[in-house]
Amino acid sequence: MDKPLPGKMIPYARHDVDERDIEAVAQVLRSGWLTTGPAVAQFERAVGDRVGSAEAVAVSSGTAALHCALSALNLGPGDEVIVPPLTFVATASTVLHAGGVPVFADVLPGTLLLDPACVERALTPATRAVITVDYAGQPSHYDQLRELTRACGIMLLADACHALGAEDAGRKVGSLADITLFSFHPAKHITSGEGGMATLHDPDLAAVMRRFRNHGIDADLHNRAEAKTWRYAVTDLGLNYRLTDFQCALGLSQLSRLDEFLADRREVALAYDKAFAGHSLVRPLEVRPETLHAYHLYVVRVDFAAAGLDKETVYRRLLDAGIGVNVHYVPVHLHPYYRQRFKTSEGLCPVAERAYEDIFSLPMFPGLSTADVARVVEQLDRALMP
Ligand SMILES: Cc1ncc(COP(=O)(O)O)c(C=O)c1O
Repeated sequence: MDKPLPGKMIPYARHDVDERDIEAVAQVLRSGWLTTGPAVAQFERAVGDRVGSAEAVAVSSGTAALHCALSALNLGPGDEVIVPPLTFVATASTVLHAGGVPVFADVLPGTLLLDPACVERALTPATRAVITVDYAGQPSHYDQLRELTRACGIMLLADACHALGAEDAGRKVGSLADITLFSFHPAKHITSGEGGMATLHDPDLAAVMRRFRNHGIDADLHNRAEAKTWRYAVTDLGLNYRLTDFQCALGLSQLSRLDEFLADRREVALAYDKAFAGHSLVRPLEVRPETLHAYHLYVVRVDFAAAGLDKETVYRRLLDAGIGVNVHYVPVHLHPYYRQRFKTSEGLCPVAERAYEDIFSLPMFPGLSTADVARVVEQLDRALMP
């Protein structure tokens, strides 16, 4: 956190790939196994060990991880899956791809995490699972959600695409839900270019997901080569969601740097926290004291009304000043596809809808310097002047 970024624009997110990462990829490219080789199992084991899960299934994206997990639930027509609206659309769209119906339950105003009370109200006899989202990198209310889902005999899935390295009361995200899903997109904590992982404890479910990522085939190329057989059987319906060995090599190398990345992100968050303490117009999201936040995003709520400005104006002013702010997210139920298909509209999830009006994600990535954080804060203050 000591060197200001060269050039004018500070992006909202930025990956960090160094020579060690490049060398790790080059080694695999020279090795002969480009896909379904040994690096996949190594990356899976390393992520599983890191998050404390017995099983880990590497796939080609976070979206693919969600789709694999939901397909393993064998959803039938009319089966419902409860999701929060303040998330990337993949949390809900994969429910549809897996044959279910997403049902939106609102978030809590302070943290924007899925509200267990709203989940309880949304439960019906058709509910088959709940997907919670560790919004911005903060762990969900895992204990309450587990209690609720266990009592109904349904699955708890965690979309932890924001939360690799986060902890809830000393327990690691990745081991707290029935299945947890991670993304390795370049904006995330570690990257494999594109990539994702499902972590879980149940080996049978993991085997179903491994088949799903590989066309429903019961053994991959590597297994067949070892067993000296051409035979394989398609036992399930599946897709090609495989992650290549060179992507896994990048992921493995990045994983060895995760603590460094997390420490940097937490340092940036602390600098923002200090700058906004007592601010009259800008309020960071609340952090549950028992959690260790992974800070994929640093989200603030801005009192545009008190500033006498609209969000669009402030957003444009910031972009013009070279500050790459972003908004996470347009509530999923307000996107045209969902409005048309499910007749959803304003008023369904008022807390998320209200939040959407006043949230900004400020630049947050490892290596963002103290000077750059100061520049973001200064430009936000300027943009909020009448
Ligand atoms: C909350 C959430 N869920 C799912 C995804 C999908 O991950 P991917 O982009 O790796 O498919 C993302 C990534 O943007 C995300 O932020």
